Amino acid sequence: MCGIVAYIGPREAYPIILKGLKRLEYRGYDSAGIALLNGGLKVYKKKGKVADLEETLQGIDLHANIGIGHTRWATHGEPNDRNAHPHTSASGKLAMIHNGIIENYNQLKQELLNKGYKFTSDTDTEVLLNFIEEIQTQNNCPLEEAVRIALKRIVGAYVIVLIEKDHPDTLIAARKGSPLVIGIGKNEHFLASDASPIIEYTKEVVYVNDYEVAIIKPDELILKNLGNERQTPYITKLDMELAAIEKGGYDHFMLKEIFEQPQTVYDCLRGRLDAQAGTITMSGIQKYAEQIMNAKRIVMVACGTSWHAGLVAEYIFEELCRINVEVEYASEFRYRNPVINKGDVIIAISQSGETADTLVAIENAKSKGAIILGVVNVVGSSIARISDAGAYTHAGPEIGVASTKAFTAQLAVLTMIALKIGHDKGVLDHDRYMHLLNELDAIPAKIEKVLNLNDHIKALAEKYSDATSSLYLGRGYNFPVALEGALKLKEISYIHAEGYPAAEMKHGPIALVDDQLPVIFVATRDSYHEKVMSNMQEIKARKGKVIAVINEGDEQSAALADDTIMIPEADEIVAPMLSVIPLQLLAYYIGLHKGLDVDKPRNLAKSVTVE
Ligand code: AGP
Ligand code: GLU
Repeated sequence: MCGIVAYIGPREAYPIILKGLKRLEYRGYDSAGIALLNGGLKVYKKKGKVADLEETLQGIDLHANIGIGHTRWATHGEPNDRNAHPHTSASGKLAMIHNGIIENYNQLKQELLNKGYKFTSDTDTEVLLNFIEEIQTQNNCPLEEAVRIALKRIVGAYVIVLIEKDHPDTLIAARKGSPLVIGIGKNEHFLASDASPIIEYTKEVVYVNDYEVAIIKPDELILKNLGNERQTPYITKLDMELAAIEKGGYDHFMLKEIFEQPQTVYDCLRGRLDAQAGTITMSGIQKYAEQIMNAKRIVMVACGTSWHAGLVAEYIFEELCRINVEVEYASEFRYRNPVINKGDVIIAISQSGETADTLVAIENAKSKGAIILGVVNVVGSSIARISDAGAYTHAGPEIGVASTKAFTAQLAVLTMIALKIGHDKGVLDHDRYMHLLNELDAIPAKIEKVLNLNDHIKALAEKYSDATSSLYLGRGYNFPVALEGALKLKEISYIHAEGYPAAEMKHGPIALVDDQLPVIFVATRDSYHEKVMSNMQEIKARKGKVIAVINEGDEQSAALADDTIMIPEADEIVAPMLSVIPLQLLAYYIGLHKGLDVDKPRNLAKSVTVE
């Protein structure tokens, strides 16, 4: 995710681009930059927010009628000035901004290094830009042709926009997998990642399709495919208001992020999981794979939702890697004097990468000789930087304070690590390994199916929104999901909710059960299923209201429940990525029904950087 804005036409480009980037900062905000063409090609970029960039440009002559701008969400190369976009080509004649991930950038970089290219950044973007320039030089061809030739070799997702010093009347753009909107003005064009920077100037837009290249002049827009065939630009009229556009048409960021999960889990797996080939490639942990395989103990350290991901991972790692796993609240782990043995592996799980308790907990562990793996969403964040190795979750910015898409992305990454370690260690049967790769590969499509239950879940939320308390119960892999569902409900609706291992209920909490208490069972078919059904009967016998998240066709469990949410089957190891989705939606719609601020719940902060 990142924000892209570009302009060409009679107006001053800078103010349009700057304002547009501010509108897009929800898409990523670790660094920002602008390139303007007016005689010379001038590039201004720095770490920080768009306002920080604006500050540094005070008093500079920024007159230009063509320019490109970018607010970054880093994926390759930590957030700093030199990794910020726009990037400039080796010749200095091209500048480019990019949204997405070039998966085969390493191979292209090696080819260019062998040809004597030098790089000023760690990004995949700069590699693509120089690859384009190399093709333009070799073929002595127009930039748009070089772009079309280059993109045929690209694996990954991109929106790119380029300006060329010797052609101040033309912008070149291309798109695959990331979004690009072109606003059609009178003798001017606006480009952006979504319509929010465009809508105040024009409501006529063209949504560029995958594998299309746009050649844009003030009074002309040409679309081609990579085969150089002209494509017809379809002009549509914007009918959304600005606020709605920033949320992708959803009412809240939380709902948008819940619905992004098919894509974010796919982005998390992309370039790493190849179910057909039976491979998992995680360059970020490769260096420590041996130590992880031989570790006597793995300690998951996290807070909140990330701690729940660690609990799911405990079951997964013990099952697949046969390594002892402990899960620690970072805030507890850091204050007691834990026993850390050299060679212990600490897995720090964090969306923000800035949670103070988690950060200090791993600093302490590292000082005692532990190996730190970071499973983090924000590239270049403090936890990512202090970790010896790790894997980013690539879920994109999570704006809603309640964590949703980060949780499923964390589970996807942790499952891939466990599969790789278990398989390479030789303790995971190959057939089971291949089965689980395919199960994991199928998750994005299955999440899509669960999201189709939205209206049913919304109706259930309204039915139970008056509850003053609730219980969430599950066993095994679904026990942490029950905890996560309870946390979501507390955070978003302010209703007290408690997650519990289903079997534990009879050791006390069952005293809470009466005909007013909704009890949500996470009861998908797994090795604990029969036992969970007995627990459902125990609740029914005491007139509790049972809402059961179960698998499609599980009529036996359905008969025990007052209400059901039926989701696709999946192996128990990957099922939490599905069974959590209804609980996210349930909390969202109950909070909404109660008229609460679901994106910014009271008392909460997105990143708890205080101790
Ligand atoms: C989850 O919905 C909460 N926002 C909170 O519990 C969060 O998970 C916790 O503060 C940890 O944050 P982190 O993942 O950024 O470290
Ligand atoms: N992969 C590019 C980078 O890390 C672009 C990231 C983005 O989409 O902001 O710089």
